[in-house]
Amino acid sequence: MSRLLVRSFALSLDGFGAGPNQDLQNPLGVNGPDLMQWFFPLRAWRHMQGLPGGETGVDNEMAERGFGGLGAWILGRNMFGPVRGPWPDDSWKGWWGEEPPYHVPVFVLTHHPRPSFRMKGGTEFHFVTDGIHAALDRARAAAGDRDIRLGGGVSTIRQYLQARLIDELHLAVRPVLLGAGEALFHGLDARALGYECVEHVAGERATHVFLRRRVDVGPTSA
Ligand SMILES: NC(=O)c1ccc[n+]([C@@H]2O[C@H](COP(=O)([O-])OP(=O)(O)OC[C@H]3O[C@@H](n4cnc5c(N)ncnc54)[C@H](OP(=O)(O)O)[C@@H]3O)[C@@H](O)[C@H]2O)c1
Repeated sequence: MSRLLVRSFALSLDGFGAGPNQDLQNPLGVNGPDLMQWFFPLRAWRHMQGLPGGETGVDNEMAERGFGGLGAWILGRNMFGPVRGPWPDDSWKGWWGEEPPYHVPVFVLTHHPRPSFRMKGGTEFHFVTDGIHAALDRARAAAGDRDIRLGGGVSTIRQYLQARLIDELHLAVRPVLLGAGEALFHGLDARALGYECVEHVAGERATHVFLRRRVDVGPTSA
């Protein structure tokens, strides 16, 4: 069966996965770009933009590892864009331009229904209003034997963690303090939920920490 994976999720030293006050000018929240400074210079990032070059090394290897074998993604609505509340129209199509870097079905969790649409390069956005289990069921059906990447943001990952549905999390821990924002582990006992650190690798601008759900711990019942 396909696995549910968090890959290359950047986390500040004080545990934030996004800064406060997300909006059109601050997609990652205020000071949020500090989280991503490990990623922007990489070949993996430039490749996503259709650009040549970029740094190779440990950070790049970790980032590239996260794109292999994926058959579907799940995102939260705040990661998809800055629009909040009911969709005023269907004009917002994500941060990523005409050809988003997904190339497979992407299931966006939201309380506000919206028709699916398809972008250049094979990305299809579907909006799921009946919760995390429904989104995962649809992602599994789309992915077949391939894995599902849980892109974020923080609130979405927290819900799947709480339900013990994530098989593995790769966190890119950055040596920066955000001070405020969206805290990944706040109020969650990841150890009691069955997660343990299985690998950590020092990269050029981030430390890569891999958490895995113990094999003897299954998902909570829906
Ligand atoms: N650090 C990283 O590597 C990384 C990676 C990805 C994203 N990010 C950042 O993380 C931030 C977004 O994270 P976030 O925690 O604010 O939000 P999020 O998880 O992206 O989205 C939360 C929203 O999704 C909808 N949603 C979530 N769960 C749902 C459910 N069970 N049922 C129905 N709707 C549900 C709700 O929207 P509605 O109620 O409004 O529909 C909710 O407010 C952004 O700044 C993004 O750039 C960081």
